[in-house]
Amino acid sequence: MKGLQSKTAIVTGAATIIGAALVREFHARGTRVVIADIDEAGGGALAKELGDGVLFVKTDISDDSQIANCVQRTVAAFGGVDFLVNLACSYVDNGIEATRDDWMSSYGVNVVGAVMMAKACRPEMVKRGGGAIVNFSSISAKVAQTGRWLYPVSKAAMAQLTRNMAMDLAGDHIRVNSVSPGWTWSRVMDELSQGNREKTDKVAAPYHLLGRVGNPEEVAQGVLFLCSSNASFITGTDLAVDGGYSAMGPEQAVPAIPRLCE
Ligand SMILES: NC(=O)c1ccc[n+]([C@@H]2O[C@H](COP(=O)([O-])OP(=O)(O)OC[C@H]3O[C@@H](n4cnc5c(N)ncnc54)[C@H](O)[C@@H]3O)[C@@H](O)[C@H]2O)c1
Repeated sequence: MKGLQSKTAIVTGAATIIGAALVREFHARGTRVVIADIDEAGGGALAKELGDGVLFVKTDISDDSQIANCVQRTVAAFGGVDFLVNLACSYVDNGIEATRDDWMSSYGVNVVGAVMMAKACRPEMVKRGGGAIVNFSSISAKVAQTGRWLYPVSKAAMAQLTRNMAMDLAGDHIRVNSVSPGWTWSRVMDELSQGNREKTDKVAAPYHLLGRVGNPEEVAQGVLFLCSSNASFITGTDLAVDGGYSAMGPEQAVPAIPRLCE
């Protein structure tokens, strides 16, 4: 992929498994990366491990002063901002039981945090002659999942926000796209399965044409592509990195017509 070397990316939520995979993939291609996360231990350890070209800036994206500090520190360390990846998320979700405060805090991170990050990065991208923003949406944006209201609605908002951002930032030569991962091996999967990848793949198999969960590195490839100059004519769209989850209908991957003959 072209156009990644010597550029600078800010990745929110980069201390977690998917985010860390993305940081490693950027780093391997010579992109300088700022890990913007509230997880001091995880973010600090990753920056220390990768060394030159990777900086951890403790950032709560629900706080505008911390966002401003993150962008300032990025510019001071690396001279500017070319890419923003809005990956951080809150999984706070109690469906219909959720309170107004739950909704506001979920949106403060998942949607408003991403908007404020983009707003703060925009002038720096303009100084560079343009840039790219990748927002994390999800398969959850398009289907109903039991007991979940806040997270899926916030991810649907991210898909729409991507179109709005793409429209209004095109004049600044800033491309804006989203990725929608399917089930991906991540902190949540790791915790819920107690580290059992085999079991996780087995549970995921009926929902994904490729019969497993995605690897964090596979999601990262989609993000890198959207940032790279290979995607120079792509803006305002969503890239499904979901192993065929969204292609599958209610009949799943089993022949349904023969059931009429049973
Ligand atoms: N895990 C999956 O299967 C899956 C599927 C589809 C989409 N996604 C998307 O991928 C992204 C990563 O998901 P994950 O499962 O790895 O999540 P995760 O919960 O493991 O990580 C989220 C990260 O965001 C950080 N964070 C939370 N609140 C923050 C705040 N206020 N400011 C800064 N950082 C904050 C956390 O510290 C953490 O490092 C999310 O956008 C999610 O919607 C994940």
